[in-house]
Amino acid sequence: MKYKSQQVAYWFFALSMVLFILQITYGFVMAFAHLGYDGLHELIPFNAATATHKNLLVVWILSGFMGAAYFIIPDEAERELISIPLVKLQFWSLAIVGVVAVIGFHIGWWEGRKFLEIPRPLDYLVVVNVLLFLYVLLMTLYKGKKRTTTALVLSMGLFFAALLYLPGMVWFDNQTMDSFFRWWVVHLWVEGVWELIMGGILAYLLIKLTGVDREVIEKWLYVIVGLTFLSGVLGTGHHYYYIGTPKYWLMIGGIFSALEPLAFLGMALFAVAMYRKGEKRHPNKMALTWTLGTAIISFVGAGLLGVAHTLPSVNMWTHGTFVTAMHGHLAFWGAYGMLVLGMITYAMPLITGRKMYTKPGASYAFWLSNIGMIGMTTAFAAAGVAQVYLERKVGMDFIDVQQEMEVHFLILIAAASLFTLGIILYIINFFKYGKPTDEALEPA
Ligand code: HEM
Ligand code: HEM
Ligand SMILES: [Fe+2]
Repeated sequence: MKYKSQQVAYWFFALSMVLFILQITYGFVMAFAHLGYDGLHELIPFNAATATHKNLLVVWILSGFMGAAYFIIPDEAERELISIPLVKLQFWSLAIVGVVAVIGFHIGWWEGRKFLEIPRPLDYLVVVNVLLFLYVLLMTLYKGKKRTTTALVLSMGLFFAALLYLPGMVWFDNQTMDSFFRWWVVHLWVEGVWELIMGGILAYLLIKLTGVDREVIEKWLYVIVGLTFLSGVLGTGHHYYYIGTPKYWLMIGGIFSALEPLAFLGMALFAVAMYRKGEKRHPNKMALTWTLGTAIISFVGAGLLGVAHTLPSVNMWTHGTFVTAMHGHLAFWGAYGMLVLGMITYAMPLITGRKMYTKPGASYAFWLSNIGMIGMTTAFAAAGVAQVYLERKVGMDFIDVQQEMEVHFLILIAAASLFTLGIILYIINFFKYGKPTDEALEPA
């Protein structure tokens, strides 16, 4: 590691780990509720659990992205971050907004708009926080010696992610209008600009871990950015079926969203090709395992399981069922969860000077979490298909169908326990690294 200020990434990674384990806890609360054990209902009603589960997910991933950016940008721009006090301020305001939002959900202070549940006053704090983050990042890049394609794609992704938060803050009295613009945030994040962030981080990791020339890796990056925009923007239409929007969205959404897996396939092939081409083998094998893992699992979870229900003729039956949860889990895990864990695995030895990635726990963390998540995805899939059939084809009552599905939640909880064991191993390993030290700092 060349720049001392890269060490600030540690705090964002640590926050990310704490929020991750809390997110999982709420997942279990919901899984038990689906099984018929809703003993915590008075304290944590289902709506509070689901909002907390999903918002903590977004915040731990974003905190991971922020840490990644604070680590990568100085390295790529070849200078220290412009201000550590500003980063500290940004860190604490992020943590405080997170805590207030979670408490709010439990006392009924929330907006019932999936993924955008935090109330508008908190949204303004988020905006200030993100502006601060972007200021530090972009000024560092601006004042730096170099502006690499990798750094530009990453920064562009982060910048547009911030911009696309705004459509979710406009107030509409009309349900269709509100839904229409909610997707500008939710869809254009995960199937648009976050893919740029993913491409940027992936390129950085592959440059570092495979030793392949930057020129070769960055050429692939253009292809991925191109494919993402080509398919993802109009692909938003796959959320505009039957919600009161004009009919042409059925065709536009179907065609363009069916092309979306190409961007993820591109990333998977890209990562594998660079791995095979690379001659220099970096000692941090676990970081490479996570990097290849994220590229491959995101194609399965986002690309394949996404396209499985993206055509209007399928989605009219599967919309809002556990089929969505099946895809949502593997897509988020594969594309963004594993990416953040991969970045942390690469950065921690450099931040702390220790090499915990050689410990057996580091490898078990990878395999247990992935086997567990594939099991969870399968359980959701089985529940989802049964739900669609019984509720929407046969016409059974919603609540009767929910009872029929309880058995699937036994399997879900078993698989989720494996997953959680893997994550606990990962987090123990993370905290065993200890705090940042200058041991791995290269002399200037
Ligand atoms: C990493 C990328 C992706 C992530 C993290 C992701 C995640 C999600 C999540 C969380 C939802 C539920 C949203 C909500 O109800 O508010 C969703 C819905 C959906 N996703 Fe994805 N997704 C990704 C990529 C894709 C791709 C590439 C496709 C298609 C090719 C796709 C197709 C769909 C469809 C059709 C729905 C709507 C489900 C419904 O009607 O209930 N997704 N996705
Ligand atoms: C390991 C323990 C976990 C359990 C037991 C769990 C369980 C659940 C349950 C029961 C739901 C609600 C489904 C519903 O009734 O609508 C849910 C929603 C969701 N969870 Fe998890 N989850 C876990 C971990 C995760 C992880 C690690 C991620 C992401 C990487 C994740 C992402 C999501 C998403 C995106 C949704 C919304 C799905 C949708 O749109 O239908 N969960 N989870
Ligand atoms: Fe989408």
